[in-house]
Amino acid sequence: MRKKVIVDTDPGVDDAMMILAALRSPELEVIGLTSIFGNASGYATAQNALRLVELEGNDNIPVARGSDRGLVVEAQMLGTMVHGEDGMGNTNPPLPKGKWLDISAAQFIAQKVLDNPRQVTLLAVGPLTNVALALRLEPRIVELVEQVVIMGGSIGAGGNISPVAEANIFHDPHAAEIVFSAGLPLVMVGLDVTLKVIQTRQYLDKIKAANNPAGHLLRSILPCYQRYHDQAYGMGGDIHTHDPSALAYVLDPELFKVEEVPVYVETSGYGFGQTIADRRRQLGQRPPVSVCVEVDAPGVLALIEERLTR
Ligand code: BDR
Ligand code: CA
Repeated sequence: MRKKVIVDTDPGVDDAMMILAALRSPELEVIGLTSIFGNASGYATAQNALRLVELEGNDNIPVARGSDRGLVVEAQMLGTMVHGEDGMGNTNPPLPKGKWLDISAAQFIAQKVLDNPRQVTLLAVGPLTNVALALRLEPRIVELVEQVVIMGGSIGAGGNISPVAEANIFHDPHAAEIVFSAGLPLVMVGLDVTLKVIQTRQYLDKIKAANNPAGHLLRSILPCYQRYHDQAYGMGGDIHTHDPSALAYVLDPELFKVEEVPVYVETSGYGFGQTIADRRRQLGQRPPVSVCVEVDAPGVLALIEERLTR
């Protein structure tokens, strides 16, 4: 049986790469996309979610629009310098044909998890606002969701948007704190592993050369993301692999080694958005989550390449 997946996402260049690879994965049944602000505004990311399901004829997959801001704080800096104002590398793509659902992202998540007990994997690769709101609407999600796999956080690799914070957590640390404390079957695919999976310029050239709509879209949107990585890290056209690594976990968890540890989220001060692993249980009684600490990087890269070029 195919794995039912809801992708909660802020597309976003790496989100786009991940969603296209997910939609091309025969083991998965993507039952919906839920959008969230983050890499661009809530409006832009919702439009991009629609564009991505439409690109290769998946417009039967519903899109539910999520939050435009964090639970407690307004987003301080969207990822537009990384992903472009439109979240699609400043390529100004045409308007999508479809429309998002009348229900919110949080309502959609709650409804699908309750309708399909222990069958839905939630793959959340943006700020965790929608997931936290879904938990508030329907706390039974904790028992009824199959797994929640997030791209976000860092327990030993420092930050990417601040010295200590990863961007998705930074954009809504209060939501992340709700999610990490909930007792969910949660897997964190954070910077500890995603920074180790490098898509080289040559690798990306192969993805861009794929003669299919996914390859054509990625050819236009990737250069903006590559330029950012070059300016920020001097990577010369190579990029880190964030959201596609989280998809790789869903497809093949054997590619990762995890550590079971409680994680807390800092919501103020210089540490705003930091994820703290409490290895010696000094901060309280919080249930542990599975934090990815090692990765078979060539394995992840081969899997993503195969999906995008098939
Ligand atoms: C995360 O932040 C966003 O820029 C990416 O899409 C990814 O989900 C990386 O920190
Ligand atoms: Ca993302």
